[in-house]
Amino acid sequence: MTQESTELQFDTLVSLCKRRGFVFPSSEIYGGIGGFWDYGPLGVEMKNNIKREWWRAMVQERDDVVGIDASIIMNPRVWEASGHVAVFTDPMVDCKNCKHRFRADHLDSDVCPDCGAKGQFTEARPFNLMFKTYVGPVEESANEVYLRPETAQAMFTNFENVVTSMRRKLPFGIAQIGRSFRNEITPGNFIFRDREFEQMEMEYFCKPGTDEALYAGWIQERLNWHLSLGVREENLRVRPHDKKELSHYSKGTSDIEYHFGALGWSELEGIANRTDYDLKQHAEFSGKSLTYFDEEANEHIVPYVIEPALGVDRTFLVLLYDGYREEEVRGEKRVYLKLDPAVAPIKVAVLPLSRNEKLTPLARDVHARLRPHFMTQFDDAQSIGRRYRRQDEIGTPLCVTVDFDSLDDNAVTIRERDSMEQSRVRIEELVDALREKLQPN
Ligand code: GAP
Repeated sequence: MTQESTELQFDTLVSLCKRRGFVFPSSEIYGGIGGFWDYGPLGVEMKNNIKREWWRAMVQERDDVVGIDASIIMNPRVWEASGHVAVFTDPMVDCKNCKHRFRADHLDSDVCPDCGAKGQFTEARPFNLMFKTYVGPVEESANEVYLRPETAQAMFTNFENVVTSMRRKLPFGIAQIGRSFRNEITPGNFIFRDREFEQMEMEYFCKPGTDEALYAGWIQERLNWHLSLGVREENLRVRPHDKKELSHYSKGTSDIEYHFGALGWSELEGIANRTDYDLKQHAEFSGKSLTYFDEEANEHIVPYVIEPALGVDRTFLVLLYDGYREEEVRGEKRVYLKLDPAVAPIKVAVLPLSRNEKLTPLARDVHARLRPHFMTQFDDAQSIGRRYRRQDEIGTPLCVTVDFDSLDDNAVTIRERDSMEQSRVRIEELVDALREKLQPN
C-alpha cells in the first residue's frame, strides 16, 4: 500500500534536515539566532545544484542574458534612488502587555498571538527592513551603509557597463545570484522567511511597448522551470497582485505561489514589470544618462524592465516539501525524498553488501570509477536495508550494490529510489548506465 502524505508538518522537515545534514540553526551551540540558518554538507550540495540549474536555464542556455556578481555593500545613494530608504518598510506593532513585536499585516485579530492580551497593540508604524552598518573606522552617519535587501539594484547600476562591454542590443537580461539581507520583523517557517538569504534575480531590459508580452512570457517561462524540477503542478499557481499590493516600482506583479499544506498558498517567486522606474531614478540620482540608443528609431530611450526574482532558500524548501514521501513497504514505513536528480545532493551511493575483505576492494574500485563523474557516497556501515533507507531519506536517486556475485561476473546492481527496482549492469558499462538513468525525463 502506498500512502502519500497530504499534510507534511514543517517540524518533520526541520528534523530530517538537521538529522541528515541539510540545514542547521545558525550558531546553535549559543542558542541560535532568529532568522539565520547554516547549510550542512548535504544542504550545500543541493543549494549549489539549485543555483546551477537556474543559471543554466537563465544564462547558459540563452543568447540574450548575461550574468554578474556584484558587491553586497553598495554606495548608499543606490538605496535612496531605488526608494528602499523611504519605503522598504513593514508596518510594525508592539503588544503593550508582553512587549513582543509583530507585523501588523500578519495579524488577523486584535489578540496578541504570544500572550493572548486583547486590544493591547500600539498604532502601526513603519519599520525599515534594511540592515545598517558602517564603512571605515568611524561609526557616524556619514559612513552608514546598508546590506543589500535585493540583488536587483546592481543590474541597474551596471546597465551601462554591461551594454558597452558586452555589445548588447535590446531585449537582453542581466542575471545575478547572491546574498540579500532583510531585518524581517517576524522571520519564520524554517527557511521560508530568513534575515539572510540568497536570491536569483534577472532584469530583462526591453523596449517600452513590448513589456506586457514579455511579462506574460516570463511568468510562463518561470512556472515551467519549477515544473521541470518536478514540483507537482497542483501545488503551484500564479497569482497577480491587486493594485494596492504592488511595490512602489511595479506596474504589474505576479507571484508564483506554492501550496504548503496547512500553511496554504505562499509566495515562491515574483515576476514584476518594473517599467523604467529604476533606470530613471538612478539617472536622476547619479546624474549619469542611463539610456539606450535605438538605431531603428534613431533615438535614445529608457528601457522597461521585466524581473523574475526567486529565493534560493525558498526553492530549497519547496523542493524538499514537495518531494517528501512516506509509504508503507512490507509493513514498514519508508520515507524518501523524490528529488529531481539534477538537485539531489548525492547522485549515486556505492554500497558493498557487507563489510568483507573480498568485497571491500572491489566496492572501493567501483566508487573510484564513479566519483569523477557524479557526487557519490560510499557507505558500508550497518545492514543493507538500513543503508537503502538512509539514502532514500536524503533523496539519492540511485544506489549501486556490490555483492559476492560481482566478484565473478564483474557486474553490480543498480537500485532506483522511487520504484526500488533493481537491475544488473556490468561494471565497465556502469558510468553510462547511471548517466542514462540520471537524465531528465
Ligand atoms: N527584486 C525584487 C525582490 O526582491 P521580493 O518579492 O521581495 O522581490 C524576491 O523577493 C524573492 O526572494 C521572493 O519571492 C522570495 O523567494 C525571496 N525572498 C524574499 N524575502 C525573503 C526572505 N526574507 N527569506 C527568504 N527568501 C526571501
